[in-house]
Amino acid sequence: MKKPLILAIETSCDDTSAALIDGNCDVFSNVISSQEEVHLKYGGVVPELASREHIRTLIPIVEMALEKAELGLKDIDAIAVSANPGLIGSLLVGVSFAKGLAFSLKKPLIAVNHIFGHVFANFLEHKDMKFPFLALIVSGGHTELVIFSSAVEYTVLGKTVDDAAGEAFDKIGKLLGLPYPGGPHIDALASGGNKLATAFPLPMLKHKNFDFSFSGLKTAGMLFLKEKGTLDEAQTHDFAASFQHAIVEVLFRKTIKALERYSLKALLLAGGVAANSELRSTFSEYCNKHNVKLHYPSEEYCTDNAAMIGAAAQFKYKKKKFATLELNASSVKGMKLL
Ligand code: KG4
Ligand code: ZN
Repeated sequence: MKKPLILAIETSCDDTSAALIDGNCDVFSNVISSQEEVHLKYGGVVPELASREHIRTLIPIVEMALEKAELGLKDIDAIAVSANPGLIGSLLVGVSFAKGLAFSLKKPLIAVNHIFGHVFANFLEHKDMKFPFLALIVSGGHTELVIFSSAVEYTVLGKTVDDAAGEAFDKIGKLLGLPYPGGPHIDALASGGNKLATAFPLPMLKHKNFDFSFSGLKTAGMLFLKEKGTLDEAQTHDFAASFQHAIVEVLFRKTIKALERYSLKALLLAGGVAANSELRSTFSEYCNKHNVKLHYPSEEYCTDNAAMIGAAAQFKYKKKKFATLELNASSVKGMKLL
């Protein structure tokens, strides 16, 4: 095991997770407790219920992570926690716990931006990743295109001006009566459908900048469903495939434009939507053809998990970027490093 051993905590939304990860980004345990069942009947995450679930499960999850790794609190060199962005009540549970533990163990505390966590999830499985790279970050709350020149130097090229890509998947999933979050279910339905059945709008493609917009596309999907009334099975598959294709096409075209404009030869996909099968296959095909190195995490590390928070924390530990015990959580969206 390579020092430092970091205990990482993730409670930014509706997954409670704890992981133990060493200086080589080797994961000794990554325990995730999903709250999916708690929120199921509401069709989305209920913030207060999420915080209460984190309070209930966080300590047992940390104990499980230690047990699984066959390690004890005495072995830990630092404690890392997602401190922004996310649901404030959820973040506060993790941050308060991490501060208390750092205080009692007298160990450094590392605050991690959740979005950076998604990016650095890639280092868990691709230890040979080299800077610079372009990152397409696509989750339930974020859609951003960012150039990373190093672990601490980055330029945001563009972001969504309204809904995130994952949000568009989830809202349409809700209208189709799919369980929350709808993204993976639409992905599964799409595999049996014709993506060219309906040509949905491809927002912002004509704009010169690298910003995205998904709320118009979401409305187009809503209007389509309203007009058609009920869909039979084949129509549902076709709708899912066509709607998914519009999202993937916009993400793909903007991303390759950025790769070409900045002559970048490495691309990284991050966040829950990076698990989407059409997104992965579209980028794989392009990157193979154009000699661009493509990285994306395996499904376990795509959606929210603490191992990715630990991976981002390793970079901060090396630069001795520790938080004080006055650390506070922040729900403000964006990639600001704490
Ligand atoms: O990164 P994540 O776990 O949480 C946030 O930080 O938001 O991302 C969750 C998002 C949800 O919107 C979910 O529908 C989407 O990722 N997602 C997918 C797939 N798997 C997860 N979207 C499309 N296709 C998938 N296979
Ligand atoms: Zn996330």
